[in-house]
Amino acid sequence: MPITPQELIANLGDLPPLPQVASQVLRISADPDANAEDLRKVISMDQALTSQILKISNSAMFGMMREVNTLTQAIMTLGFSTIKSVVIASSAKNLYHRGTVGLQERLIWEHALVSAIASRAFAKSLRFPRIEEAFIGGLLHDIGKSVMGVKFPERYSALLRTVYNEMGNSLQLELDTFGFDHAMVGEALVSQWNLAPSLQAAVRWHHDPLQAPETHHELTAIVALANHLALEAKIGIGDPCNLEGASMQAMEILKLSPEALTGIKDGVRAAIEEDKTMIAEF
Ligand SMILES: [Fe+2]
Ligand SMILES: [Fe+2]
Repeated sequence: MPITPQELIANLGDLPPLPQVASQVLRISADPDANAEDLRKVISMDQALTSQILKISNSAMFGMMREVNTLTQAIMTLGFSTIKSVVIASSAKNLYHRGTVGLQERLIWEHALVSAIASRAFAKSLRFPRIEEAFIGGLLHDIGKSVMGVKFPERYSALLRTVYNEMGNSLQLELDTFGFDHAMVGEALVSQWNLAPSLQAAVRWHHDPLQAPETHHELTAIVALANHLALEAKIGIGDPCNLEGASMQAMEILKLSPEALTGIKDGVRAAIEEDKTMIAEF
């Protein structure tokens, strides 16, 4: 019998909070009266975050014409919503790195980042208007894995090893072992962080996009395709064959023929290739 959300929270205990700077950035970027100076003040209190934003502003991903040297310049050139992505990415990185150690940790983080870049590229070519939301959805889709890694270090690391060595299905193994899976845990975290309902849906249903509420179908489908593509590129832990069903559902939602999808995927792979430097720097 599936676990209720209340039972899930009872099993997990306290979830990692969103870092304070990140929640302030989210608040400011949602405030129509806020300006670049408000954002600069909050971000500049965090030195690591500031230098990360500057690095990313200068990465190939954003193809800037001239070098970005100050935070104000970065905010002006990238815009509020991209800055928001970078800040969430940096918070997520810390969380991903607190989970399992070594190879697993690295694979999960790289998978998150590549899925984020792929989601953004899919969103662009499908003319999905909320490109940054797609980026964040890709980045956070497996955040539940990190939470499980933090909460149950030995058991979860053993589970991931099984998935890695035997190419098992992580979702099914999680359900068998814990009674819940990383998609449910991820949703609990993302809702605690007060991220948009669309992101909560994408995290919850990235393995089963047709189950998402209809208003969130497209975003969830994009994240599902990105997730599959990242695993096909052998970035992450798991067998891409397990994601074929999710991709089929995504194609139905997005009304994509196999031929159209193949063409789009070529473009997405090229975008990932271009962003390699950002992946290395992050
Ligand atoms: Fe997943
Ligand atoms: Fe994934």
